[in-house]
Amino acid sequence: MTTKLIIDTDPGIDDAIAIFYAAAAPDIDLLGLTTVFGNVTTDQATRNALYLAETAGLTIPVARGAHKPMVIPPHKPSLRVHGDEGLGPLPAPAPTGQAIDQPAAEFLVEMAQKHKGELTVCAIGPLTNIAAAIQKDPYFAKNCAQIVVMGGSVDAGGNITRHAEANIYHDPHAAQLVFASGANVVMIGLDVTHKIRFSPSDFSNVAWEAPRLGGLLQEMSYHYIKFYETVGKFDGCSMHDPTAIVACVQPDAFAFRRTAIDVVTQGEAIGKTVAEPPGVYPAINAAVGADVDRVHDLLHDRLARLP
Ligand code: BDR
Ligand code: CA
Repeated sequence: MTTKLIIDTDPGIDDAIAIFYAAAAPDIDLLGLTTVFGNVTTDQATRNALYLAETAGLTIPVARGAHKPMVIPPHKPSLRVHGDEGLGPLPAPAPTGQAIDQPAAEFLVEMAQKHKGELTVCAIGPLTNIAAAIQKDPYFAKNCAQIVVMGGSVDAGGNITRHAEANIYHDPHAAQLVFASGANVVMIGLDVTHKIRFSPSDFSNVAWEAPRLGGLLQEMSYHYIKFYETVGKFDGCSMHDPTAIVACVQPDAFAFRRTAIDVVTQGEAIGKTVAEPPGVYPAINAAVGADVDRVHDLLHDRLARLP
């Protein structure tokens, strides 16, 4: 059984790892990529997504998404974390292909209709495109089998601010709309993604086994690990986005809490996700624990099998 998957992404180093992981996973049928601002601008994200897909040998549509948040003015891209072009030290890539004409939200709506009840959408960037798809089609939320969100936290606080995780911070109104939508939302937040880490030797092992694509990931990882040295106080990096992709297909590797999630949309705590009893907002599944070794080893072993 394979899972039909679309990844909504702002690549980004851990996004690149996530996309390569999805390309290598035998239990994933990757149907397309949609792009959004966040780590980089939407133009850079689209270019990077095209490059990553081509490099991984994927012939899949890439649809360009929103270039700014729903309500708040855009924040600067996270270049310090991901590098000037989003892929660590790599120069701006020059993919040969082009994004499809259809905007991301339209593509998502159409794919969810076509694969009704079977499509998993994994959002590993700000949730602007997903919110736009929900607004565009009242059936979108229910047509998706699940919307897996890398973002937020239950008890773990934030990473871009003390309160907020980066993806939610970049568009809190979109996040609030998605958590309120009644879709089968799965939140993979910092409570678990901070625990799934790759060390420099994990990247060397992957590069040794898979010199071409693993080598590329290792090259990108130097920049990401350097950033984590300054903030994380450990030798390695958190595998935020790849962990969310694992959760799409192996949910039994995680422990979930059934809870509603509200999002703070103004003030000092803007972008904070707040777990509260269902009522105003519907219940979703928020990850609060993970089988850390299992997720780590799965990522490691599959990335090592990249071409
Ligand atoms: C999230 O923010 C981005 O920097 C990463 O790509 C990930 O999606 C982690 O907070
Ligand atoms: Ca991301």
